[in-house]
Amino acid sequence: MTAAVVTGVGAAIPPRVVTNDDLAGYLDTSDEWIRSRTGIASRRWVDPGMSTGDLAVAAGELALRSAGIDRVDAVVVATTTPDRLCPATAPEVATRLGMTGVSAHDVNAVCTGFLYGLASAVGLIAAGNAQTVLMIGAEAFSTILDPQDRSTAVIFADGAGAVVLRAGSPDEPGAVGPIVLGSDGSLSDLIQIPAGGSRQRSAGTLAPPEDHFFQMRGREVYRHAVERMAASAQEAMVKAGLSMADVDKFVPHQANNRISVAVGERLGLVPAQTVSNVDHMGNTAAASIGVLLAEASVDGELHAGERLLLTAFGGGLTWGATTLVWPALTAHMTVLPRPVSAVAV
Ligand code: COA
Repeated sequence: MTAAVVTGVGAAIPPRVVTNDDLAGYLDTSDEWIRSRTGIASRRWVDPGMSTGDLAVAAGELALRSAGIDRVDAVVVATTTPDRLCPATAPEVATRLGMTGVSAHDVNAVCTGFLYGLASAVGLIAAGNAQTVLMIGAEAFSTILDPQDRSTAVIFADGAGAVVLRAGSPDEPGAVGPIVLGSDGSLSDLIQIPAGGSRQRSAGTLAPPEDHFFQMRGREVYRHAVERMAASAQEAMVKAGLSMADVDKFVPHQANNRISVAVGERLGLVPAQTVSNVDHMGNTAAASIGVLLAEASVDGELHAGERLLLTAFGGGLTWGATTLVWPALTAHMTVLPRPVSAVAV
């Protein structure tokens, strides 16, 4: 059976660092509250003029360089914050990477986007539609946050992480294992932007301004996130014919530190196995696993031959997990320069 094998990894983050104290300057919050509840000390937000597509192009370029190729058969962009509601962001990203003509589409599974995007890429390869795929998780999540909502503004952040996959065999290092995915639409209200879509537009009434921003019922989300991430991680290992004892490194979606710790504990993993960058990246939604893979690889935290366990949870609700053996590769990561429009002000 054809497998999809990871051969390149790259990430790109915006230049602007937003600290907890920066947020406490205009919100009723504190560095102490944010650190103790989320484990986040700072995050990166785009300046005006920088978009999800800009981050995706930079991350995609680095992943292609990491894989040693300059073209793929298909581009998938997983995002909650497309450059425009229509069309998808992926075709423009593909063209900006010099690949006009290739298959290109977006996937929206909010914070599970990286794993749903990965499944889409794996599917393209398994079906013979593509021999090589560039899958990019990218978010300019700060652009949908209500600046006055302290419960979301402190958590979410911007960035892009990308992987290149090629057709290969299931026993090669880098081969993506069975991907477990799930959803529960009865809880779609827990994480949402109420306005801007067909339901609100067809009502023919103006939505209140706050309905155009991202909203989250954090406490309820927390409980579901821990349960679903742990259960899907266990299921992915069973489907791969493995046990938790086979896991070297745990690479969870960077929702927040308390969620990662709680899931790790449920899985019986020791804290040293858990890879994390949420303290300085925040929650970059669909980008977080890709950014974490690239950064941990660049920093020497991930080693070739280690078995990774990936799991994520997000709006929808959606969740998922998979496993792979980390391949020998050189990952790349960059901080984008400030956009000209931001430098001018
Ligand atoms: N600073 C200070 N106080 C804050 C705050 C902030 N940034 N955000 C919320 N609060 C307040 C609330 O208003 C509430 O005040 P009240 O008791 O007077 O009503 C109090 O803190 C407790 O709020 P609550 O939401 O119950 O806190 P919590 O302990 O559950 O922590 C989260 C809040 C968001 C950190 C937590 O629910 C969480 O981690 N949820 C998961 C969110 C997440 O990671 N989502 C992404 C999934 S992909």
